[in-house]
This record gives sequence, structure tokens and C-alpha cells, in this order.
Amino acid sequence: MTQVETDKLNELNAFMEQAVQNEHSDSYLIAVLHKVQQLYGYLPREVMDTVADKMQIPTAHIWGVATFYHYFNLSPIGKHTVSVCLGTACYVKGAEKVLDTVKKELKITVGQTTEDRLFTLQEARCLGACGIAPVMMIDDKIYGELDAKKTVDIINQYRKAEKQNAEKQS
Ligand code: FES
Repeated sequence: MTQVETDKLNELNAFMEQAVQNEHSDSYLIAVLHKVQQLYGYLPREVMDTVADKMQIPTAHIWGVATFYHYFNLSPIGKHTVSVCLGTACYVKGAEKVLDTVKKELKITVGQTTEDRLFTLQEARCLGACGIAPVMMIDDKIYGELDAKKTVDIINQYRKAEKQNAEKQS
């Protein structure tokens, strides 16, 4: 286990100590799940087993709670979230083609993350930028008036930035 992983687990354990000391520990479960997601970006299976153990709550119950709330990510998410708008204005202006382009370029479908963990693809319903439809959002940045070429160019900008970052760090 790396130092970072050990630190995360220690922080989570400390957080859970407080939860189990409380008589109504079940009501702390959601707070603990939030903490796990804050630390790991999603709910890793092995960490959830630790939570079940520590809090003495059946794993099935924990997964039941986790899947009930859409907020929780059950699988790893990418560094960047790409949301393609399929709202009416975007749909009319060719959003489906934009979505197909992104899927093809990233080789994933909606709800999935690329192998390099750089992108997660999502659908959205109106991002409030109908005037520049069709639109996609990457993290919190909106890109409009998209066609296939522009869409690929934007994705490549992120790949390039990532590559430059990696080079800087090595
Ligand atoms: S429908 Fe896409 S931004 Fe409004």
C-alpha cells in the first residue's frame, strides 16, 4: 500500500471511529459514504468491505444505500467529466452526432470511463446554453456550436494538456 493510500485509509478510519461511537451509527452511514467518495472519488469495493466491518453493517445494506443515491459513484470516474447535452435545442442541432463522435473518440459509452481514467462520459438535459447548441460541458466549461471536428479538437486539447502535465512531473 502506498503512503497516499495509507493516509486515506487512516483518515477514513478516524472518521468512522466517531460514527461507531454513536448509538445510531446507521445514520452516519451516508456521511461515511460521502467521506469515502471525497477521498477516493468513488466507492471502491474493498473500502466498502472495510466500512461494513468497522461499522458492523451488512455489506448488502451499504450497497443498497449507495445505489439509492445517484450522488455516489460506484466505479472510478475520470479526471474530466464530459457531459453531452441532449436537451431539445441541442438535439435539434445535432447533439446525437456530437455524442456519437465523443463515444467513438473515447471508445466508451455513456456512464463509462476511459481506460486511462482521463474522461468519464455523461448525458445532460439542457446545460442552459441553448443559444450555442449543440453543447457539451467538460468539468465546468461549456463548449458550443459543436460539429464532429470541433468536438475531437477539444478532446485532444485535454489530452495534450494531460501529456504536458505528465512531462512536467517526470
Ligand atoms: S438544450 Fe442543450 S443547452 Fe439547452
